[in-house]
Amino acid sequence: SGQSALHMFSSTLPILLANLCKCVFLCFSEKLLVLTVATEETDGFHRFMKSASYFNYTVKVLGMGEAWKGGDVGRSIGGGQKVRLLKEAMEALADQEDLVVLSVDSYDLIFAGGPEEILRKFQQANHKVLFAAEGLIWPDKRLADKYPSIRSGKRYLNSGGIIGYAPYINRVVSQWNLHDNDDDQLFYTKIYLDPLQRETLNMTLDHKCQIFQNLNGAVDEVLLKFGTGRVRVRNTVYDSLPVVVHGNGNTKMYLNYLANYVPNAWTYENGCSLCDDDIGGKGSSYPNVLVGVFIEQPTPFLPEFFQRLLTLDYPKDKLNLFIHNNEVYHEKHIQKFWEENRNVFGSFKVVGPEENLSQGEARNMGMDLCRKDATCGYYFSMDSDVMLTNRQTLKLLIEQNRKIIGPLVTRHSKLWSNFWGALSLDGYYARSEDYVDIVQRKRVGVWNIPYMAHVYLVKGSVLRNELKERNYFVLEKLDPDMAFCRNSREMGVFMYITNRHDFGRLISTANYNISHYNNDLWQIFENPVDWKEKYIHPNYTRIFTENHMEEPCPDVFWFPVFSEKACDEIVGEMEHYGSWSGGRHEDKRISGGYETVPTDDIHMKQIGFDKEWLHFIREFISPVTLKVFSGYYTKGYAVMNFVVKYTPERQAYLRPHHDSSTFTINIALNNKDRDFEGGGCRFHRYNCSISSPRKGWSFMHPGRLTHLHEGLPTTNGTRYIAVSFIDP
Ligand SMILES: *[C@@H]1O[C@H](CO)[C@@H](O)[C@H](O)[C@H]1NC(C)=O
Ligand SMILES: *[C@@H]1O[C@H](CO)[C@@H](O)[C@H](O)[C@H]1NC(C)=O
Ligand SMILES: *[C@@H]1O[C@H](CO)[C@@H](O)[C@H](O)[C@H]1NC(C)=O
Ligand SMILES: *[C@@H]1O[C@H](CO)[C@@H](O)[C@H](O)[C@H]1NC(C)=O
Ligand SMILES: *[C@@H]1O[C@H](CO)[C@@H](O)[C@H](O)[C@H]1NC(C)=O
Ligand SMILES: *[C@@H]1O[C@H](CO)[C@@H](O)[C@H](O)[C@H]1NC(C)=O
Ligand SMILES: *[C@@H]1O[C@H](CO)[C@@H](O)[C@H](O)[C@H]1NC(C)=O
Repeated sequence: SGQSALHMFSSTLPILLANLCKCVFLCFSEKLLVLTVATEETDGFHRFMKSASYFNYTVKVLGMGEAWKGGDVGRSIGGGQKVRLLKEAMEALADQEDLVVLSVDSYDLIFAGGPEEILRKFQQANHKVLFAAEGLIWPDKRLADKYPSIRSGKRYLNSGGIIGYAPYINRVVSQWNLHDNDDDQLFYTKIYLDPLQRETLNMTLDHKCQIFQNLNGAVDEVLLKFGTGRVRVRNTVYDSLPVVVHGNGNTKMYLNYLANYVPNAWTYENGCSLCDDDIGGKGSSYPNVLVGVFIEQPTPFLPEFFQRLLTLDYPKDKLNLFIHNNEVYHEKHIQKFWEENRNVFGSFKVVGPEENLSQGEARNMGMDLCRKDATCGYYFSMDSDVMLTNRQTLKLLIEQNRKIIGPLVTRHSKLWSNFWGALSLDGYYARSEDYVDIVQRKRVGVWNIPYMAHVYLVKGSVLRNELKERNYFVLEKLDPDMAFCRNSREMGVFMYITNRHDFGRLISTANYNISHYNNDLWQIFENPVDWKEKYIHPNYTRIFTENHMEEPCPDVFWFPVFSEKACDEIVGEMEHYGSWSGGRHEDKRISGGYETVPTDDIHMKQIGFDKEWLHFIREFISPVTLKVFSGYYTKGYAVMNFVVKYTPERQAYLRPHHDSSTFTINIALNNKDRDFEGGGCRFHRYNCSISSPRKGWSFMHPGRLTHLHEGLPTTNGTRYIAVSFIDP
């Protein structure tokens, strides 16, 4: 039977060994217990738990729901409550000799590696208790001399991370008999600095960040290390891969940055792995949203901004509108929008410039409207310089289900955006390593960032809880948005920016001269994309893609170029200016002072629009020239740029003539049969007339030699055309 037992043993040996191996791993994770104190489920706490569950740590949370009495640990001493809770928890674990306890903070801490690695490193440290270390001494600098000297590494104790065998940890924390607001770090420091206790409790510090990386004073030492499907933090000074990363002191924002990647939040292989976590129900219900619109300075394209607001894909009766307008100039735009749409929205409130509210006061007022209204699900703040081109923006943001989230919007073809990836020491802009990649959408995800502005969504419930203090936009001398962001950071509410979709752009409000009649016309340099959208014919690009143009007479090309708005505003601008030349031969505006074939006109230069007009020619006419007169490269230069007015009462037609140009463009600015009768153009050589000009369409024809032409009589009403003699 002995033999058979032996036989049995040998046949099961491999299985036993396999089980043993399994046990080694399982037992490792079973042998490690993570204890953390958290009295509230902050965003930081959830992040901590997420990283712990990714690595399958066993975590016990102490103190949840208890009032925090441990002081404001970020700024002053405190934290004793953590030791008290740990002491209470350790009493039950005191005799578990094989149990390794890891006590860590949670609001500002994440795991970058798993329990097996921690246990292995702990065993290599060959001590019974190991504290995290840092290069800065806190809270009592006078204790520096009492620390054992070390050859290299971090010298001072940090209480954010402790690992040790349960009985030893118990012997440390059982010494606690202080108050909840006394300092935990000082308590541990004193025990550690007592040479006798250091020896008997077999304590040391993790001097070279094998396990614990405190970021305070060490931000320059750490880098992200991208592995396959996994991201770690590498300490470049000790060449270590710490397992516990702690944003202690002033480094919360840097931890937020690291945690956008570590352990697997974003990787090159898989992109954003957390983006769809916590995602809300799609489109099933539409919570009430208070939309706060802030017009704090003259802003180009405001009517277009309002149109985009109207086209957001969201039930309008669920949107309540609050508009703060600080500019008398915009009152006409708001009046118009209000008249046309006040019944479209759930409610519509405007606070105008006469209230003389500061920007901070206005933003407080808007946010407060949502805060005070229990049915307000979200507060969506938008500045007037945000052009949301994505109609789904609001839905997408709500779905993402974060406390505060903004859509990435950027200045066209610039690196300027509505967020900062990092802050400088004085709280202003600093560029994070990933800023450019995020702005250019080379890295796509949902990013925890320290500052955002212009457009963001805040949960109503957050306004009634974490952010329940009013007056969020006024703080010291900070800009309102900086005040808001700092308050949110200090309340531990994470702010996210998403670049998972293209949401829109920021327009420039700089150099917006509002002393013209139609000021947006002048925005061709400052805001070219919005200018094009507003003023260029919607079918213009089809000239190039589908040859969308006509040739009504030989070498006379006819194509769409201006939108209705462009035509109307140019005519409006000219009539507003009003000094038509009268069609006289004597003309002081031109060199020589004499015009042989004069028209009743106003030059672009007279209204200060010549630079803009020439830019328009280069941007939108030259490409057409290249297409139709192939091989001819226009300089896009023109001295004579003007709007002509034909009316039977003044000048009705223009006799046959050549133009002093290589080629001429002639753009119809209004509609035949609606605004005037008659009109058109005749080219003599070809006996060819075009009698039905189309508003917004341009003719382009050679100026001399072949194309003798005349302006046909306008018989009723007023006809307007814009003309340029190009490459004279
Ligand atoms: C955690 O446990 C799950 C289930 O046992 C396993 O699939 C996963 O690989 C573990 N994660 C890690 C990082 O070990
Ligand atoms: C600390 O404990 C380890 C075993 O865990 C032992 O090898 C080492 O000698 C002890 N160190 C001191 C200073 O007692
Ligand atoms: C508007 O407020 C500012 C500062 O709050 C004050 O200096 C200014 O006199 C006020 N203007 C009017 C017209 O009330
Ligand atoms: C604004 O436009 C007006 C009218 O054309 C002009 O007189 C003025 O110089 C412009 N101001 C600036 C700052 O360009
Ligand atoms: C653009 O072209 C399409 C197709 O030819 C036409 O239906 C549409 O009315 C045009 N748009 C404008 C603004 O003229
Ligand atoms: C020009 O064309 C019209 C009709 O389009 C015709 O009646 C007339 O005779 C033509 N004139 C010449 C000179 O060919
Ligand atoms: C000119 O147009 C106006 C308005 O469209 C119309 O009342 C009038 O009869 C027209 N005059 C002639 C001479 O056709």
